[in-house]
Amino acid sequence: MKPFRLPSHFLLGCASSGAQIEGGDRNSNWYAWCNQGHIKDGSTCLRANDHWNRYKEDISLMAELNQKIYRMGIEWSRIEPQEGNFSKEALQHYRDEISLLLQNGIKPLVTLHHFTHPLWLEEKGGFEQDAVSEYFERYVRFVVENLGDLVSEYITINEPNVYAVMGYYFCEWPPAKKSVKLLLKVLKNMSLCHIRAYRLIHKIREEKGYPGKTMVGVANHLRIFDPYNKNNPLDQLAARVMEYLFQDAVIKSMSTGILMLPLGSGAPLGTGKFLDFFGINYYTRDAVRFKGFQNTQMPNTPRNDLGWEIYPEGLIRLCRKYYAEYQAPIWITENGTCDKEDAFRADYIYQHLLAVSQLCQEGIPVERYYHWTLMDNFEWAEGESARFGLVHVDFDTQERNVRNSGRFYSEVCDKLEVTQEMIEKYLTSLG
Ligand code: FCB
Repeated sequence: MKPFRLPSHFLLGCASSGAQIEGGDRNSNWYAWCNQGHIKDGSTCLRANDHWNRYKEDISLMAELNQKIYRMGIEWSRIEPQEGNFSKEALQHYRDEISLLLQNGIKPLVTLHHFTHPLWLEEKGGFEQDAVSEYFERYVRFVVENLGDLVSEYITINEPNVYAVMGYYFCEWPPAKKSVKLLLKVLKNMSLCHIRAYRLIHKIREEKGYPGKTMVGVANHLRIFDPYNKNNPLDQLAARVMEYLFQDAVIKSMSTGILMLPLGSGAPLGTGKFLDFFGINYYTRDAVRFKGFQNTQMPNTPRNDLGWEIYPEGLIRLCRKYYAEYQAPIWITENGTCDKEDAFRADYIYQHLLAVSQLCQEGIPVERYYHWTLMDNFEWAEGESARFGLVHVDFDTQERNVRNSGRFYSEVCDKLEVTQEMIEKYLTSLG
């Protein structure tokens, strides 16, 4: 392991989502889903981190850990708990929370949809129905008109591909309807929602003369798909097909307005460049076999607690590829690992940030890194058992304790470098 530096303008912080930390919301599709007993450890997002009530304490912690930027979710189900009924209290809560972030010198990036939405919308068919883009637009209008003076940066939708695949193919998430037809329709509708929201956010902030540069994008979940056997042309083909179907078709549809097959065709909302930054959520690589059109793991590779391969090189490959294609600044909108014992998280961060520093040296404009995540939280179907936090959480007492990796990351955020001294103090063995 060697010391390295990040560029002086580089920004580091953390990412989270509303439903995974806030607790207390009974109006979302995930609340209903948890109540049906689908969560592996029996936990529910009703508890989570009680961040709704503890946000002041959590923001102090972020400031202590030298966070400069913070990606947070706004919950649609809190803002519009019943159809057409917008909550002034929820809005005020988010205004207070965001104002406190700003007072602490932490710049917010707001996610408008991160897997969860109001139950009334789910009951109408969620993103399967064509009317969803009108509902989404109405919600986005309310948020941006009322928060747009404080927030200039937005992610419209988090990981549309993961939302669609988990809900309509693997059926481990709501609404658990196995249907490729619906899956494609959802991706198409999410693309249209994104484009409408992209235009609307720019329009509102411009018309109202709100301060700061408007930046709008998507948090794209990107994986590396490599052939299981790199010399087998059929495995190579399967890897390319999977990459296109899982990520490239939807990214292109959302970014250009041209619907790609199999999502659709034509450009129902016109064409354009609907991204101001290219958001990458990166975790792992899949090894693809033609036989059975399966994705599996490369043998003898390092893995995290959930069995995901730790493959930092993947971040370099993805940034090169998508920068060449979209020519937009890159924000790593999520990267992190599940490591209950905090045995390798600091090394993981080191390796991925080293990759970022290499990309910057090559002239690829990677500008930001949002670590997933500040504190252990409600990890969807895994519940409270999968621990991704820089900070350990005891969910019974809600006590927060900074882990070794958290202290390491905090120093990196402060200094924008990893020194020899830090390597000796915090890092172990992975590399
Ligand atoms: C991403 C999700 C995020 C979190 C991490 C571990 O796919 O966007 O909410 O669950 O994975």
